[in-house]
Amino acid sequence: MTETANPGPAPSRRMLALVVALAALATVAIAALLVNIFERKQEARNPFYRVVELNDTVDDPAIWGKDFPMQYDLYLRTVDMQRTKYGGSEGMPHSPTQADPRSVVARSKLEQDPRLKTIWAGYSFSADYRERRGHAYMLDDQTFTERQKFAPPAMCINCHASIVTTYLKLGNGDLMKGFNAISDTHMTYPQIRQTVKHPVACIDCHDPSTMQLRITRPAFMEGIRALKASQGVANYDVNTMATRQEMRSYVCGQCHVTYYFQPPNKRLTFPWAKSEGRRHHRG
Ligand code: HEC
Ligand code: HEC
Ligand code: HEC
Repeated sequence: MTETANPGPAPSRRMLALVVALAALATVAIAALLVNIFERKQEARNPFYRVVELNDTVDDPAIWGKDFPMQYDLYLRTVDMQRTKYGGSEGMPHSPTQADPRSVVARSKLEQDPRLKTIWAGYSFSADYRERRGHAYMLDDQTFTERQKFAPPAMCINCHASIVTTYLKLGNGDLMKGFNAISDTHMTYPQIRQTVKHPVACIDCHDPSTMQLRITRPAFMEGIRALKASQGVANYDVNTMATRQEMRSYVCGQCHVTYYFQPPNKRLTFPWAKSEGRRHHRG
């Protein structure tokens, strides 16, 4: 027998090396998977990766945007002023003045239908009434509308600004107390205006520690509690009793609703219980 007949050891050693290498790779892969699963579990416990710490004193949406850059980017798009085939607002150039520094405004409904001026004579809407536009403009549009000539109540601001920090400050940490303080002390619009900086922002719809949706407007909490009571549900607390699906509508319903200012304090009131109740009783 010649030695050449058995080339054995070399390939089998190569095979062994390959098996060892594969086993090592598999071990690394399994370890990586376990680490990944562990990390995902940690993430599930902590719902988002925090670049900055958020709490109820942070109203600036740009700071929330550091933790949620994608949502912040979408939020900023409410500046859009292009009319589409679905409607939407259209920007009209406006020469900025000292009294009204806006360079773009929404189209005037009074100019579109001049009869409105006569119909509304003596009523603030006869001075200025425009198409609505994106959230980015809500605070400026209220601050600079010609309707300011009629000295509107401070509570107008409830739906045109990020107001959570103001309510909490005036109420020593209690939204409802802060809300009441504004009407009870007869604050004026210019006074309340100085306490806010931003249009509706993340803090108005989201809990800063969990990002859960939440209701922050006392008028909504009261209005819906009275409505539920009229339907036989006692002590309704929207933030603990509403479903997730309901909350998706309710956060918008804090502002996109019918309201009035209750004399003598001009307290902001959402009168749904009455209209709903009447409808029920009429059967
Ligand atoms: C309950 C919430 C709420 C309150 C309170 C409120 N607004 Fe508004 N406001 C809105 C909404 C929502 C719009 C968007 C228009 C629409 O949906 O019809 C709007 C639109 C506007 C606009 C832009 C369109 C226009 O009418 O020219 C101005 C200006 C304005 N409001 C001023 C005021 C003033 C002044 C007050 C107080 C007298 C006030 N708002 C109180 C919710 C509110
Ligand atoms: C803090 C009050 C507030 C909340 C909360 C709110 N809105 Fe608004 N929204 C307004 C006001 C005020 C305007 C009008 C701003 C203006 O014309 O300057 C407006 C305007 C709009 C417009 C008109 C945009 C355009 O270009 O014509 C849409 C659509 C809209 N809101 C949808 C929503 C939805 C959906 C939600 C809930 C996810 C919501 N809003 C929550 C106050 C609010
Ligand atoms: C007018 C109310 C409102 C405002 C203001 C708002 N959000 Fe939301 N946000 C919502 C609603 C409604 C949802 C959907 C919640 C659900 O699915 O139950 C949502 C969902 C989210 C989610 C969950 C992931 C997703 O995309 O569905 C994140 C994160 C978030 N918002 C971040 C932000 C940030 C950051 C801001 C400020 C820049 C902001 N939101 C401002 C109402 C709001």
